[in-house]
Amino acid sequence: MEFDEVVRRRRMVRNYTDDPVDGEVLDRILDRAQRAPSAGFSQGVSFVVITGEERRAEIARLGHEEEYLADGFDPWISRAPVHVVICVSMDAYLERYREEDKGGPDSRTANEEGWPIPYWWVDAGASMMLLLLAVVDEGLAAGFLGSHNLGELSTLLDIPDHVAPIGVVTIGHAADDRRSGSLARGRRSDAIHREHWESPAGD
Ligand SMILES: Cc1cc2nc3c(=O)[nH]c(=O)nc-3n(C[C@H](O)[C@H](O)[C@H](O)COP(=O)(O)O)c2cc1C
Repeated sequence: MEFDEVVRRRRMVRNYTDDPVDGEVLDRILDRAQRAPSAGFSQGVSFVVITGEERRAEIARLGHEEEYLADGFDPWISRAPVHVVICVSMDAYLERYREEDKGGPDSRTANEEGWPIPYWWVDAGASMMLLLLAVVDEGLAAGFLGSHNLGELSTLLDIPDHVAPIGVVTIGHAADDRRSGSLARGRRSDAIHREHWESPAGD
């Protein structure tokens, strides 16, 4: 698939067929997701891949799937044959930036407070996007479930304390789904500023 088509096709899909995701296809997707950039090549992002039905059902419960059902959505979380929990370790960044080529143990970024932008969250987002695009490139569909019960999710999946799950990417074969009401907001047309930050006329 051409890159432009992958980008245009990507959207959060909130329903899947019963068809499983081929193991080799999943491996390719995960391989590509690991090619995301990371600050200092810290590589602090990890992925927990879940295909077991019971665990997926539990993740759906922690993600308040019943609220989606009450809003007219399909059981898109439990129905997705694959869940990928994207995780990131801040410690990986602090350790990397204590190395000599990054300023050593006394550098500003040796501690969390010294980071004007916490790059671990930036990198987790970049990995998430690459994962979503890799899924589309394989002719599959994905959705993202944000922050519900992340502590319990960690417990369920044995994620260690120093690693933070940022959310769940659901992957499967697309089925007809209900679109998010948020899309009614329409696409912004004022995000690009050229040469300097232009304010809208009249401001
Ligand atoms: C950080 C982040 C968190 C999100 N959390 C949720 C979520 O918890 N549940 C959900 O249904 N969609 C979630 N979404 C999907 C957004 O609603 C969706 O990306 C947005 O409405 C634009 O639609 P599109 O991605 O289909 O183009 C999230 C998206 C992002 C980037």
